[in-house]
Amino acid sequence: MVVTGASSGIGLAAAIALAGAGDDVVLLGRDPARLADAVSRVREAGGRTPASFRADFAVLDEVRAVGAALTADYERIDVLANNAGLLTSVRRPTADGHDPTMQINHLGGFLLAHLLLDRLRAAAGPDSPARIVTTSSLAEAWGTLDVDRPGRRQISRWLAYGASKQANILMTIEAARRWSGLGIVPTCFFPGLVRSGFGRRSPAFSAARLAPGLFRSSEQGADTLIWLATDPAALIPGGYFAQRAPFSATPRSTNAKRAERLWKASLTAIQTTKPI
Ligand SMILES: NC(=O)c1ccc[n+]([C@@H]2O[C@H](COP(=O)([O-])OP(=O)(O)OC[C@H]3O[C@@H](n4cnc5c(N)ncnc54)[C@H](OP(=O)(O)O)[C@@H]3O)[C@@H](O)[C@H]2O)c1
Repeated sequence: MVVTGASSGIGLAAAIALAGAGDDVVLLGRDPARLADAVSRVREAGGRTPASFRADFAVLDEVRAVGAALTADYERIDVLANNAGLLTSVRRPTADGHDPTMQINHLGGFLLAHLLLDRLRAAAGPDSPARIVTTSSLAEAWGTLDVDRPGRRQISRWLAYGASKQANILMTIEAARRWSGLGIVPTCFFPGLVRSGFGRRSPAFSAARLAPGLFRSSEQGADTLIWLATDPAALIPGGYFAQRAPFSATPRSTNAKRAERLWKASLTAIQTTKPI
């Protein structure tokens, strides 16, 4: 099971719980020190040292490199937990020419899923499909996503974040349409408001964290991810969940035509610098 964003928060909590339950977890993170610390914590939980890989999703070549390393090391990958993400005020386009939030929260995971597609297919059996679980958010409701130009410059961090989380749901819907027949079940979920590393530099989000009862722990946030990654009852292609139950998103995030257009434009976006 490959978990992106495994060096902190929801991804780390999921990796610890899954390793503790005996799963073979592979950690992806960006910050080397946090990743090393995550490896120690997962080792303590699972009793063996998990493999770990570093990649900054703001650089698509680093995603390509980690995809190549994973495909070299693993013949089968049964789950891709597509969880890495952030809220950032950086608006300068990435070296790949995209809005940084959209690249890190959507295009990076979209590219990685394509790079690992053969390994996911190899893991899929008739009674046990492979899974892609993506961490979205109710922030999808205010996203300003141009599905034909997902990487276009955004004007604020929250609009950019909402757009990227809309893209997570639309990608899940279109992946289900394209890849269910290959034995792969894509789902996505909202973890709740979680007291993690997320949003620490946002004064509004940091203030909200102080409100009693509003935020959940990373372990609670990871619960639906773990359920979607492991439970036979959670195999609902294209589904969007919160707290292990179906959750509703705005029509902009669930429209099949928008999903198809976003997919095509995202393919173009990840191929602009170098083809995969
Ligand atoms: N916390 C919430 O309230 C909340 C609510 C809804 C959805 N979410 C979503 O939940 C997911 C996990 O966030 P979290 O709450 O667990 O926050 P977190 O504690 O900040 O963890 C984020 C993870 O994503 C990784 N990441 C960030 N930027 C990256 C990049 N450029 N390249 C590769 N990896 C990168 C981080 O790596 P580093 O350790 O190297 O920074 C970290 O492992 C995100 O997709 C977020 O949008 C969170």
